[in-house]
Amino acid sequence: MNKIISIANQKGGVGKTTTALNLSSALALSNETVLVIDSDPQGNLTTGLGIKRDAVKLGLYDLYSGKCGIDDVLRRTIVPNLYIIPTTMDLYVSEIELFEQADRERVLKRILDPLKSEFRYIFIDCPPSFGLLTLNALVASHSVLVPVQCEHFAVEGLSLLIKLLWRIRGGFNETLDLEGILLTMHNRHLSLSRQIVDDVRKVFRSKVYDTIIPRNVVLAEAPGHGKPAILYAPNSSGAQGYLMLAKEILNDNSLLF
Ligand SMILES: Nc1ncnc2c1ncn2[C@@H]1O[C@H](COP(=O)(O)OP(=O)(O)O)[C@@H](O)[C@H]1O
Ligand SMILES: [Mg+2]
Repeated sequence: MNKIISIANQKGGVGKTTTALNLSSALALSNETVLVIDSDPQGNLTTGLGIKRDAVKLGLYDLYSGKCGIDDVLRRTIVPNLYIIPTTMDLYVSEIELFEQADRERVLKRILDPLKSEFRYIFIDCPPSFGLLTLNALVASHSVLVPVQCEHFAVEGLSLLIKLLWRIRGGFNETLDLEGILLTMHNRHLSLSRQIVDDVRKVFRSKVYDTIIPRNVVLAEAPGHGKPAILYAPNSSGAQGYLMLAKEILNDNSLLF
């Protein structure tokens, strides 16, 4: 089954965009046809795939506002089989404009419906908030992938997030599933990191991916070169982590609520 997956966490800096960038690239390199949607007006996913900000004339905002069609915004990327709907800063305005629309939480779902059959995976990189952009992403999605940084309060933050997701499921999208929880920025030399892994696994059990993404500076450097780490330094521990995650996802699609 083709799948639309939101990458969401209300916290910033937990690895959402890094995961969108590298997981989508890893799956595309495994010969799956993949689309990523940059739904964060900051546009780090867009620039991380080598697309210069001023080269994007039309983006997700223009789709939301009905000013253009999919074919005007959908682009190829430097990764074979990977396509993107990029963003512009205008997307900030969508939060306000959507508010005035009837059926305001279903606009993205309507936009993506005709694309579902074309892509094995569609990933939506969400902003670090629970406004209308994230709600639209979650209503359009089959499931949510939640990156969590290996740090203090990870379990508390996650418990809140899961409660929020359940409310969205109850109110807006009754088939929304939890795709999986991804532990990121793990430092194997720190006992704190090891403790967090144990705590999160104890509470969320099979919903936590076996793959853990290590803290690796290459993951932070690569976007500056306009490339996912998987192309920039394929042998780095960060790139290898996301390749393993892609394998895990391809082999097992059964992490459900
Ligand atoms: N595993 C990692 N190791 C090292 N740096 C990382 C890792 N994951 C993300 N980063 C860096 O941390 C910062 C926040 O990550 P990002 O993916 O942008 O988070 P979010 O999208 O949740 O705000 C970025 O500068 C990114 O390059
Ligand atoms: Mg981000």
